[in-house]
Amino acid sequence: MRTFYIETFGCQMNVHDSEKVIGTLNQQGYSQVETPEEAELVLYNTCSIRDKAEQKVFHRLDQFKKAAGKNGKVYGVLGCVAQQEGERIFDRAPHVSLVVGSASYTKLPELLVQIESGERRVTGLSLDTEDTFETAYTRRDNPNKAYITIIEGCDKACAYCVVPMTRGPERSRTSESVLEEARKIAADGYTEIQLLGQNVNSYRDPSPAGMNFAQLMNAVGQVPCLRRVRFTTSHPRAFTKDIIDAMDENPVLCNHVHLPVQSGSDRVLHAMQRLYTRDEYLRRIEWMKNSRRNIAITTDIIVGFCGETDEDFEQTLRLIEEVEYDSMFSFKYSQRPNTPALGLTEHVPEEEKSRRLTILQEKQRGIQMRRNAEYIGERHEVMVEYFNQATGQWVGRTAQNKTLNFTLGEGMAEPRAGEYRDVVVTRSGPNSLAGEAVRV
Ligand code: SAH
Ligand code: SF4
Ligand code: F3S
Repeated sequence: MRTFYIETFGCQMNVHDSEKVIGTLNQQGYSQVETPEEAELVLYNTCSIRDKAEQKVFHRLDQFKKAAGKNGKVYGVLGCVAQQEGERIFDRAPHVSLVVGSASYTKLPELLVQIESGERRVTGLSLDTEDTFETAYTRRDNPNKAYITIIEGCDKACAYCVVPMTRGPERSRTSESVLEEARKIAADGYTEIQLLGQNVNSYRDPSPAGMNFAQLMNAVGQVPCLRRVRFTTSHPRAFTKDIIDAMDENPVLCNHVHLPVQSGSDRVLHAMQRLYTRDEYLRRIEWMKNSRRNIAITTDIIVGFCGETDEDFEQTLRLIEEVEYDSMFSFKYSQRPNTPALGLTEHVPEEEKSRRLTILQEKQRGIQMRRNAEYIGERHEVMVEYFNQATGQWVGRTAQNKTLNFTLGEGMAEPRAGEYRDVVVTRSGPNSLAGEAVRV
């Protein structure tokens, strides 16, 4: 029996790519094992978004080798570092013999045959588009929530970002193929789907149906038996009002939008080549706030981009106060290879980046305390995720993607993961809500 181990780092697109890789390998007669020691084939699906992520790859590859000892394993690097570094990976980690980027996973069976027939170094780095969306062998990891890729790559050119290079140009999948997968997933018993892409709202149906993102989301929202449809990530430039209109009309479309702003300063947005101004971004926020539904809004922010002054940073702080985000991912700017920002010279010192990050995160914590306290007394439906032994609470997630921990009312039957329960919120913290399940 041939065995493989896979470890995944990075965004949801990488997590879902690994599900496709696992399915493909299973189909080839490989079985997955829990540790690299047990495996004949050790795969690492990598992320290159910040320098730390990339460094971790080479460190981890070293660890794998040390743990494995001398017996001949095959090591493979997948994902964004594979695409970015290509054959250079063989120099930096000579024990690696397979380097494959995200557009080439359907080629894995043939690449593995090459290795078995004695080739020492094999690569799959073409960004060719033909079968990027082949999903026949996907082996989903989460039994309750299913990912569907609707668009690959990115045609934007944000000055700091490696993704256009590591994932190639934008390619949308046909709406029939997306809907067919959604129906299949629903028939398999899933009730929640998350549509994935680096920029889902740049989606352009290449088939005659010619759907835009809002139309596609609407169509997926009509698939029988689905209760929750989510999507990530959106780019403000391509974020149109029909997305909010679709949410207003169909409660299956979850009331949560992740809309990365990156900075609150027009000057910095311009230097980042983000293609929108602060005002244009805020107009989109206004659409959400004017919706009939209470839409949770989350974002990504980079501090310390080249040339960011105290005043620029102040504007970011003012923006987060104004929007009152439900949650935020924030990062120190990290210089990346082959990105337009490499030409910029006004670097912000690391200590200053750290200082700004701390201030930003503290401010956001206060906002979340305030926002979450508003939920006390409200009733929300959650999808049950698991029982937390340590706290004695069930963990659930609301449509807005908030974690809501709960206990059961007197005599209530224990739920199973994937089931839905109504919960009344009784307490709140900066990162989660707590409450008690009630009868519907
Ligand atoms: N496609 C998504 C973002 C994908 S990357 C979008 O456009 O919104 C996820 C987040 O990582 C980005 O939103 C950004 O905040 C952060 N990021 C990307 N490149 C970075 C870099 N070089 N340094 C620090 N953070 C970065
Ligand atoms: Fe990167 Fe910008 Fe594309 Fe997002 S939109 S993946 S930040 S280049
Ligand atoms: Fe990382 Fe690649 Fe995703 S760089 S964030 S794994 S697209």
